[in-house]
Amino acid sequence: MNHETADAVEQEVLNRAETLALDLARQAGVLIRDRLYDDREILHKGRVDIVTDADQAAELVIAGGITAAFPDHRLIAEEGARGNESSPYGWVIDPIDGTTNYAHRLPQFAVSIALEFHGDPVLGVVYDPMRDEMFQARIGRGAFVNDRPIRVSETADLISSLLASGFSYNIEERPISYALWIDINNKAQGLRRAGAAALDICYVAAGRLDGYFEKPVNAWDIGAGAIIVLEAGGRLSALDGAPFGLYDRTICATNDTIHDELVAAIRTTLDSNSVT
Ligand code: IPD
Ligand code: CA
Ligand code: CA
Repeated sequence: MNHETADAVEQEVLNRAETLALDLARQAGVLIRDRLYDDREILHKGRVDIVTDADQAAELVIAGGITAAFPDHRLIAEEGARGNESSPYGWVIDPIDGTTNYAHRLPQFAVSIALEFHGDPVLGVVYDPMRDEMFQARIGRGAFVNDRPIRVSETADLISSLLASGFSYNIEERPISYALWIDINNKAQGLRRAGAAALDICYVAAGRLDGYFEKPVNAWDIGAGAIIVLEAGGRLSALDGAPFGLYDRTICATNDTIHDELVAAIRTTLDSNSVT
């Protein structure tokens, strides 16, 4: 993401997109919060990967609203909604990030809506309906929670850092996450697994965490958080320090200061486990 991206994005599109994303995130958030204690249908996408009827209902609201307003835009949502194929603008949606928490009624989940331009996130909204916290950012305009500006922490080293990570639903993809879990936990002040990647990244943006890393992840988990953490002064890369790519399924997001040290520690683990 660079100044050329910022200049090329049409501000009129972003004005409309921002208003819409905030409105749809709130609508979907209220919907899932109101249904939290209802009986629900749970479908299995994999052995431990689930989707609830609330995920599907929230996705219908969000994807329906975006498709009506921007029928030409690309769109990809976790539960299957798809849009046009040939626009520079693409929406990336997770109707409930933290579905497993949601299904267990553990109140740590959020709605995540991102807009990218040629693959670079330019607008992000993450709404936590249980705490009524709306995180938002737009390229070049800073990051906010409930309209209050947010900024990454000033934590200077890994051993003083509180970090977060996560684990894939695919158990075969987990060994490297387990290796990182042990190694990084021993080199940091603490490591958390709260179960909602979008909130993990927003908490880095808000200075509540100093870093977050995960592989594999999907674009809908991290798209909105990516622009929010950048606009809050943070840094993004792939897990191994390579440049960040929204669709590359790997992320390390930090307060900037600890980035090099965290990536070096991650690389030590990757190298000693012969993975990239
Ligand atoms: C998951 C959560 C979790 C992360 C997983 C994601 P979902 O998303 O963000 O924190 O570790 O990689 O798949 O399925 O709850 O939307
Ligand atoms: Ca997710
Ligand atoms: Ca989800």
